Amino acid sequence: MSSWNFIYDGFEPEKEGLREALCTLGNGYFATRGAAAESDADGVHYPGTYLAGGYNRLKTEIAGRVVENEDLVNIPNWLPLKFKMEGSDWFHLSKVKLHFYRQKLDLYRGVLHRTVRFEDEQGRICVLKNRRIVSMANPHLAAQETTLLAENFSGKIEILSALDGKVTNSGVKRYLQLNKKHLEGLMEKELGYDSILLKVQTNQSEIRIAQGARTRAFIGNEEIFPKRTLLKEKGYIGQKFEVELTKGQKLRLEKIVSLFTSRDNAISECALQAEEALLQAGSLEELLEPHAKAWKHLWNQFDIDFFPSDPSQGDRIARILRLYTFHLLQTTSPHTIDLDVGVPSRGWHGEAYRGHVFWDEIFIFPTLNLRMPEITRSLLMYRFRRLGAAKRAAKEAGFKGAMYPWQSGSSGREETQKLHLNPKSGRWLPDNSHLQRHVNAAIAYNIWQYFQITRDLEFMCSYGAEMFFEIARFWASMTLFNEKTGRYEIHGVMGPDEYHDAYPWSQTPGLNNNAYTNVMASWIWSRAVDLTSIIPCSALRRLREKLDISDREISLWDELSRKMTIIFHDDGIISQFEGYDKLAEFQWEEYRKRYGDIQRLDRILEAEGDSTNRYKVSKQADVLMLFYLFSNKELEEIFEKLGYPFDETIKNRNIDYYMHRTSHGSTLSRVVHSWVLVSSQNHESWKMFSEALESDVADIQGGTTPEGIHLGAMAGTVDILQRAYTGLEARGNMLRFDPSLPKELGKLHFHIRYRGHELSITITPSCLTIKDLPTFAGPIEISVKGQRKTLPAGKDTIVSFAL
Ligand code: BGC
Repeated sequence: MSSWNFIYDGFEPEKEGLREALCTLGNGYFATRGAAAESDADGVHYPGTYLAGGYNRLKTEIAGRVVENEDLVNIPNWLPLKFKMEGSDWFHLSKVKLHFYRQKLDLYRGVLHRTVRFEDEQGRICVLKNRRIVSMANPHLAAQETTLLAENFSGKIEILSALDGKVTNSGVKRYLQLNKKHLEGLMEKELGYDSILLKVQTNQSEIRIAQGARTRAFIGNEEIFPKRTLLKEKGYIGQKFEVELTKGQKLRLEKIVSLFTSRDNAISECALQAEEALLQAGSLEELLEPHAKAWKHLWNQFDIDFFPSDPSQGDRIARILRLYTFHLLQTTSPHTIDLDVGVPSRGWHGEAYRGHVFWDEIFIFPTLNLRMPEITRSLLMYRFRRLGAAKRAAKEAGFKGAMYPWQSGSSGREETQKLHLNPKSGRWLPDNSHLQRHVNAAIAYNIWQYFQITRDLEFMCSYGAEMFFEIARFWASMTLFNEKTGRYEIHGVMGPDEYHDAYPWSQTPGLNNNAYTNVMASWIWSRAVDLTSIIPCSALRRLREKLDISDREISLWDELSRKMTIIFHDDGIISQFEGYDKLAEFQWEEYRKRYGDIQRLDRILEAEGDSTNRYKVSKQADVLMLFYLFSNKELEEIFEKLGYPFDETIKNRNIDYYMHRTSHGSTLSRVVHSWVLVSSQNHESWKMFSEALESDVADIQGGTTPEGIHLGAMAGTVDILQRAYTGLEARGNMLRFDPSLPKELGKLHFHIRYRGHELSITITPSCLTIKDLPTFAGPIEISVKGQRKTLPAGKDTIVSFAL
C-alpha cells in the first residue's frame, strides 16, 4: 500500500468502530463516519453524520439531579443504500460468507472505497463495490456509488435508498443513560422520479437541516427506470425498487446528496436550497474531479515529505502522518472560514466530548498557522464572538476581564458536564474540570502565535488585542498578594493534569499556584504590555477607551509579570502546584502488574475507593507544557524576569522527574513528552513520537478513537516533525530554525507560509535549504542556528545553511 492509501483487509466486527472513525469523510462543514452504506447502528456499526458546530441541548435526570448537556448532534444519515436478493433478507455482513473484504481510504483524492465478495446462504456469489466522497469542492454535496456484480446467478435484487432522520445520539456508551433524541421531522417529500428530500430540526437549538438525495440505477452504461415505491414516515424518507439481474451483469447505483441548514449563508431556505443543489449537481464522476483538485491544492500546502534514514521504515510513518493531516483538514478546512465554529477536540468524527472545543487548539493551530492561517483566524473569531459570554462568566465568578469556559460549544457558556460516569465503578461523580482556567492562557498564546506568523495587524487591532487584554485582566483579577513572600499567587484552579482537581485533605476543589498557570499568566501580562507598543496609536487609544484600561492597570500587569509565585521542591524541581511535595509516591510497578494498562489511573483508583489526588501521578504533561510551548531562550527570559533560576540542567531534571510520574491518560501527553526530549534525548524523543503516532491508528486508549479522533494528538504529531525537530520558531520578528533531527530521520521537505512569503524548506542532518517564492510581501529575517539572513521581497531566493 502506498503512503497515500489506508487499507484494511478482512472484516473485523470488533474493530469496525475504529475503522469508521478513521475512515470518516468530511469537508470542514460536515463529516460522515466511514460506516457501510447498508449498515444501521447495531453495536458494530455506527453511521454518524455531524455538522460542524451542530449542537443541541437536552436535560436528563441522573443520580437525583437534572443535568443539561449540549451535544454535537448526529444528523440524518444520508448513507442508506441497502439491497436484498430475492428470497433473502436485507444484506448484512453477519449473514453471508465473505470471500474477500477490503476497505481503502485514498487520502490523496479523499475517496473511500470498499470491496466485498460474498456468498449468501443460497450459494449466490456477488461482488459489492462502494466508493464515496464528501465534497471538498462544494461543502454541501456528498456522493456514493454501489455496484453489484451478479457473479454466478440471475435474479431480482431489491434496492432501498433513504434519508434517515430517526437516528439518535448513541455513539458513546458512557452517555447512553442521557437523553439522546435531538431531531424532530419537519418534512419528507418526493422530488420527482429519482429524488427525495428530508427536513428535520434540532429540538432545542432549532437548527433546521435539509438533505436531498438523488439515486439513479444503471445496468452497464444504460440508465434503468424501475418503478419506485415511496416509504415515508416522520423524519424518514426512502424509495424502494426492484431490478432483474442476469448472471455476469453489473448493477450500478449512484446516490448524490445535498445538505443545507438554516444557518447557511447566501440561501433563502434550506430545503429549497437542498432541492436546487441536487438538481444542479452532476454525476459522481463529475463531482469527483473538482473534489480531487481541491484535495490536491490542500496537499500542496499541507503535505510533509518524510524520508527516514532506513527507507523500509518510511511508508507507514508517512501514511499515518498523512492520515492525521487528512483528518485535520476534514475538521477545519477553507469551508470552515465562513462558519462560526471552533475546533473540536475529537473532530466532527464521533460523539465523544460532545464536539466541544477545549484548549486542544494549542496543539492544532501551529500546523494551520504555518499553512493556512486564514483558518486559524476564523477559529479565533469563534472565540471573539464569545468574548461577551466570557466576560459575563468572569463577572459571575467575581472576577474581571474574560473567563473563557473549559468546554465551549454553541454560545460560549461553560459546557463542561456537571457529573461524569466512571465506567469502571459505575458511579456518577462531580466533574471539576471546569477549573482548568488555563484554557484562557491557551487562547492568549494562540492569538500571539498567529500574530507572530502572520503579522496580521488588522486582526490584532480589531479582535485579537481585545481578547488578549481581557484575558490579561482576568488573570490579574485572580491574583492574591502574599505578604510573606512579596509575590502574587493564583488559587483554586486545575492545571492541565486532570488527575489533580483538589487537595486530598480538602473538601473544596481546586489547587493553589499551579506552576503552568502562573508562568502562563506572567507571560500573558508581559505580552499585554508589549502589545501596547505594537498596536498603532489610534487603535490603541480606541481600545483602551473602550475597555477602560488605565496606565495603572498596565503598570499592574508589568508588576504581576515579575512577581508571580512558582514553588520548587527537591532542589530545582518545579512543583506542579503548591503542596505537590506532600503527596505520596505511587506504586507504579504494583499497579502495572495488577492492571496492565494504567493509562486511566483516575478510573482505576476511584473504583478502588482511592483517588489520584493523593499521589504524585499525572495524567498528562503539566509543568512540562512550559518546555513544550516555549524555547529555552524564551523560558530563560521568563524565569529571569520572575527572579527564579532556569537553565538546561534544571529543565532536564524536571523532564526526568515528571516523565516518571505520568501515565499518559491523555493522548496529548506523549506529544509533549516527545517534544521536550528533542534536544537532550533525541532517541527517546523519537520513541515517544512513534508512540504518539499510534494514538489513533492503534486506538491505544482501548476504545476511545471509535468515539471520535484525537485531533490534538493528530495535529501535534505532525507538528513534532514540522517544528520540534526543525527547531522552527517565530519570535521577535524573526523566523528561527534550530534543527535537531533524530538519527531515524533522513530528510524532511515541506512548505510553510510566513508573513506573506511561501517558503519551501528542506532539512537533512547536514544542511537546511530555504527556497522563497517571489512575493510582494516585505523582506523577512531568518536565523538558522544563529546564522542570520534577510530574504528580500519579490525574488526567487534560495539559501542554504550547513548544519
Ligand atoms: C485531556 C484534556 C483535553 C481533553 C480533550 C482530556 O482527556 O485531559 O487535556 O483537553 O481530553 O481532548
